[in-house]
Amino acid sequence: MNLDWANEWHKKHGECFWTKKLNEKGMTNEGYWDSRSDEIYAAHDKITNYPGAILEKMIPFLAPEAKVLDIGAGSGAYSVPFAKISREVTVVEPSKGQLRRLAQKARGLENIKIVNKRWEEVNREELEEYDLVNAAYCFSMPDIKEALGKMISCTKNVLFLVAFAGSSLTPVLASIIPGYNPSPDYIYLYNLLYQMDIKANVEIITRRYLYPWGLLQKLWAEDYDLAPDEKESALAFFQKNNLIVSRDGAMLIKCWYRDAVIWFQRG
Ligand SMILES: C[S@@+](CC[C@H](N)C(=O)[O-])C[C@H]1O[C@@H](n2cnc3c(N)ncnc32)[C@H](O)[C@@H]1O
Repeated sequence: MNLDWANEWHKKHGECFWTKKLNEKGMTNEGYWDSRSDEIYAAHDKITNYPGAILEKMIPFLAPEAKVLDIGAGSGAYSVPFAKISREVTVVEPSKGQLRRLAQKARGLENIKIVNKRWEEVNREELEEYDLVNAAYCFSMPDIKEALGKMISCTKNVLFLVAFAGSSLTPVLASIIPGYNPSPDYIYLYNLLYQMDIKANVEIITRRYLYPWGLLQKLWAEDYDLAPDEKESALAFFQKNNLIVSRDGAMLIKCWYRDAVIWFQRG
C-alpha cells in the first residue's frame, strides 16, 4: 500500500476534534489564539516544562551570527530564547494576541522581526535563508506539503519540526467527550518528509509533571464544554489509575506529554 501522507494528514486534520470545533464556532485559528487566557496558559507552560528539553536540542545549532526563522511562534517560547543567543529572529505569526504575549516576553530584545501573517500567506521572496528554521505545533496549513517545501527552501543549515507524539490526557478526553478525535501526530509529518526525499532524524521527548486539578478544570473550561458529571468521570479515571497525588492540600494529577522533535540538517 502506497499512502500519500499529505492526503492522510489533510484527512485526519479535517476530521479531528479541533478542526470540527473551530468550524462549528465559525472561528479562525488566530481568533482562537487571540481569545486564550494569558494567566491560565502562562501557568500551563510553567508546569508542563515546555519547551525545556526540546529547546536544548536546538541550542547547539545556534551561534551569535545565526539568523533564525520561527514559524507559528506563538507567545515566543522559542523565539525569545533564540533572540538571546543569535543575531536575528524572524517570527511568522498570524495571531495578534500571541504577538502581544510575545512582545511582553521579548521586552529589551531588539533583534526580533515580526511577520504578522499565516505561513501560507508569506511569499518566498519576503524570506531569506536561515541557519535554523523552527516550526512547533503550528501545522494548521491548507497545503501541508507546500508548507514543508517552503520551510525546506529557506533552511540554510537545520530545520526543526516539533509535533505531538501522545499525551496521558488523550484517553481521558476520548472517554468523556463524544466524538473526540486527536489532531494528526508527528508520524504524518515524518512520513511526508520521507516522501519528499528527506530522511529526517526524530526523537521523542517525554515531559512528566504534576498538574493541579483546579488548573486542569480551568484549562478544560477554555476548550471544552464539560458537564459536571463528565468532570466527575475524568476524576474517577484518575483515581482508578492511581494518578492523584495530594500536596499541601492541593489535588495534583500525574501527567505525561510526548513531543516529537524532527530535525533535518543540510549537507
Ligand atoms: C500551539 S501554538 C504553538 C506556538 C509555539 N510554536 C510553541 O510551540 O509554543 C500554535 C501557533 O501556531 C500559529 N499558527 C496556526 N496556524 C498557522 C499558520 N497557518 N501559519 C503560521 N502560524 C500558524 C497560531 O497562531 C499559534 O500561535
